[in-house]
Amino acid sequence: MKALVIGSGAREHALCRSLSLDPDVTALHCAPGNAGIAEVAELHQVDALDGAAVAALARDLEADLVVVGPEAPLVAGVADAVRDAGIPCFGPSKEAAQLEGSKAFAKDVMAAAGVPTARSYVCTTDEEIDEALDAFGAPYVVKDDGLAAGKGVVVTEDIEQARAHARACDRLVIEEFLDGPEVSLFAITDGVTVLPLTPAQDFKRALDNDEGPNTGGMGAYSPLPWADPKLVDEVMETVLQPTVDELRRRGTPFSGLLYAGLAITSRGVRVIEFNARFGDPETQVVLARLKTPLAGVLLNAANGTLDAQAPLRWSEEAAVTVVVASHNYPGTPRTGDVIEGLDEVAAQDAPNAYVLHAGTRHDGGSVVSAGGRVLSVTATGKDLTEARERAYRAVARIRLDGSQHRTDIAAKAAAGA
Ligand code: AMP
Ligand code: GLY
Repeated sequence: MKALVIGSGAREHALCRSLSLDPDVTALHCAPGNAGIAEVAELHQVDALDGAAVAALARDLEADLVVVGPEAPLVAGVADAVRDAGIPCFGPSKEAAQLEGSKAFAKDVMAAAGVPTARSYVCTTDEEIDEALDAFGAPYVVKDDGLAAGKGVVVTEDIEQARAHARACDRLVIEEFLDGPEVSLFAITDGVTVLPLTPAQDFKRALDNDEGPNTGGMGAYSPLPWADPKLVDEVMETVLQPTVDELRRRGTPFSGLLYAGLAITSRGVRVIEFNARFGDPETQVVLARLKTPLAGVLLNAANGTLDAQAPLRWSEEAAVTVVVASHNYPGTPRTGDVIEGLDEVAAQDAPNAYVLHAGTRHDGGSVVSAGGRVLSVTATGKDLTEARERAYRAVARIRLDGSQHRTDIAAKAAAGA
């Protein structure tokens, strides 16, 4: 099978790594990719938001499967353009991707499907904003309706900060604060059959102890030793299957990766958000533990034959990923800094720890930073403690001026807390 992956983050590097290890994959392409993906896939230039250009590239490469990684191309209809060209594509249609593209749309689907989520108001005027903030009280949760790369949500005790963020959004959702640990559960679906993956937890705040601003994600781990073993079954029954059924009922079936961001509250599981694609950095740890070759699963989802998919097999090992970010991330990051130590990780830590690139590019003979999240180091081990030790040992070998990373990824879970 010839596969083409669209995107350029650590998630796409993780997808490409898994596909490159799949014996069914005879050729692997990625566009636009990054310096790390270039080691496992042939890179091509493309405007990832241009459906016609992506479809043309897929046709030129005679791709048997296209995997669209990030949300922006999905919301722009890139998967539709590829399917219209007769090429199987893993990723939802433009309409189904509204589950991520509009928080108000997601709330409407959840209400119709009876999926438990935070109570919320969609607001457009200052009066509506003040009424909604009053109705829920602190802590305030204010969300930009549209895509915002993980940075559109403000959770604060400070009414002025809540109001300021709300007024900066054109259309927004204000909702009840959900208290409790968060879980990310991904499911692969063809619009009918739903296949849950293994749960993971990510760390959204920039600094240790969940302090600092929200980011796109600073690290993740799997499995979750503290979670109820029945969690996946429960979420399948109350969240994933009803959501997939509701979108099919509306005539806009969702095929691809349905990402449920969940809060485990004292009153039960609640959906915080849906995403329409693999999450980053959770994908790095989920795929590190998936033993079933990936390409066939994605192709079954793309072809509507997921009912024929054999049960997924998972490693007993634990996986931890730690994101290394640029100076000043999640503000405007500094880029162009040389990254050193990548060879040392490859020589001394593989295969138990490896680097997945996000914002990197080649500059002459070196690899330099080219984005906010620069790379993530992923490690496996017999338990979270060992996976953590291996991940942080490899992180310590990476030298990038001004870079930052959290030191407490999976620490509490490893300690049994
Ligand atoms: P989102 O972009 O919707 O994933 O939100 C980013 C982060 O904000 C989530 O991972 C949560 O940590 C936090 N958050 C979002 N909605 C809520 C909520 N209703 N209650 C508490 N925290 C929330
Ligand atoms: N891990 C958060 C996200 O992918 O949106």
